[in-house]
Amino acid sequence: MDYYTLLTVIIILPLTLLLFRRRRNHLLPPGNYGLPLIGETLQLISAYKTENPEPFVDERVARFGPVFTTHIFGEATIFSADPDVNRYILQNEGKLFECSYPGSISNLLGKHSLLLMKGSLHKRMHSFTMSFVNSSIIRDHLLVDIDRLVRFFLASWSDRVLLMEEAKKITFALTMKQLMSFDPCDWTESLRKEYLLVIEGFFTIPLPFFPTAYNRAIKARTKVAEALTLVVRERRKESEQGERKDDILGALLKEEVEGGRFSDEVIVDFLVSLLVAGYETTSTLMTLAVKFLTENPLALAQLKSEQENIRALKGDNEALVWADYKSMPFTQCVINETLRVSNLIGGIFRRTTSDVQIRGYTIPKGWKVFASFRAVHMDDQHFKDARSFNPWRWQSDTGSTCSPGVFSPFGGGPRLCPGYEIARVSVSVFLHHLVTKYSWEAAEEDKLVFFPTTRTQKRMPINVKRRVASM
Ligand SMILES: *[C@@H]1O[C@H](CO)[C@@H](O)[C@H](O)[C@H]1NC(C)=O
Ligand SMILES: *[C@@H]1O[C@H](CO)[C@@H](O)[C@H](O)[C@H]1NC(C)=O
Repeated sequence: MDYYTLLTVIIILPLTLLLFRRRRNHLLPPGNYGLPLIGETLQLISAYKTENPEPFVDERVARFGPVFTTHIFGEATIFSADPDVNRYILQNEGKLFECSYPGSISNLLGKHSLLLMKGSLHKRMHSFTMSFVNSSIIRDHLLVDIDRLVRFFLASWSDRVLLMEEAKKITFALTMKQLMSFDPCDWTESLRKEYLLVIEGFFTIPLPFFPTAYNRAIKARTKVAEALTLVVRERRKESEQGERKDDILGALLKEEVEGGRFSDEVIVDFLVSLLVAGYETTSTLMTLAVKFLTENPLALAQLKSEQENIRALKGDNEALVWADYKSMPFTQCVINETLRVSNLIGGIFRRTTSDVQIRGYTIPKGWKVFASFRAVHMDDQHFKDARSFNPWRWQSDTGSTCSPGVFSPFGGGPRLCPGYEIARVSVSVFLHHLVTKYSWEAAEEDKLVFFPTTRTQKRMPINVKRRVASM
């Protein structure tokens, strides 16, 4: 055998056999693997850094169908733009699929974070969280503080504000109150500063040996955890003396008594993960609702008139109550439409725990899948003229009665976001006070981008004018 034949035998033959075997055992969805190692990651990122990321998915769906194979973030990945497949993935959480995050993320969240928990502990913590932020708890306990804190922060606005920053202050304060009964003070503000560094760490790439944003984030996370551990210990003591505050930490300490003790670390990781969950997404939702309303004067006028009617029946400083929240149908349409168009959670990554059959394909065990909610929300098949902001679509039957799995801004299945209702209530209260107390205009043009997270490039600067004297 000459050299080349040898080469062929050594390299090409095993490769062909390998490919052939893969074909025979697993019929994978069609698709592109892109370049070696980086795959199609760069195409994906550059698409999501623009206001219109849809072509990335559109092109692949047109060529390969709604379930295709790609290679992103270092791994071959099955991408689903199909609502039935997405629903199947959500419903089979913990059976055929499990959540999967890179190590850099789990270090920041803490290993006992709700996002990373599995099995029966996850079940217990998830249903605990659900029951603590369900609608009757919001109605009877949380709403009064939401209303008070939103008004407190809005009262200090004048002239030009960076809406995204202001919204973050509000949602941080709401979350601190709900978790641990803290009102805004120097302590919460310094915790928030550390916490901002932690959040930044989620969107940076960890490099060993270099003092990067990621290392800063890890340090900040340690500080946040230390501060919260002190709070937990203090509250344990109080609780053993029979003093119980009516907040999530209090409920957790009570739940302990009934269902077995949690370590400080478990409680702290849990608090950190709820802070992450409650803070970033809800503040972005507030900001984007205002952005879309600013760009749609008709929608703004209708929302304003709905909120003014509610205010007209109340005193200037009277707090909103549950019945008020329940009489904002158009505002709810605006919130749904903001959720649909902005796709704060664009989808979820999962890993298969065994070979999984989907639509005649076999996804091998251990593979990554991405259920894209965004692709479904942006699909004309499911929402007429899907790529325009149209809150009125939710008034017609077609908007609000779409088949299950089609509109899933909060995910679903065993990992449904427990905060779906409290996010809605917080944004509704915020919009109420904003439109009844202020008028505003965009101070600069600002663009929406979707990578690394959904946000506007300039944090949404607006010029505000006070409408009423008394706040
Ligand atoms: C909400 O949770 C509480 C327990 O925290 C429970 O008593 C109540 O029935 C729940 N309400 C709803 C509407 O699920
Ligand atoms: C908004 O979406 C939710 C599903 O998340 C749905 O239950 C609700 O009816 C929608 N609201 C309106 C006004 O259509």
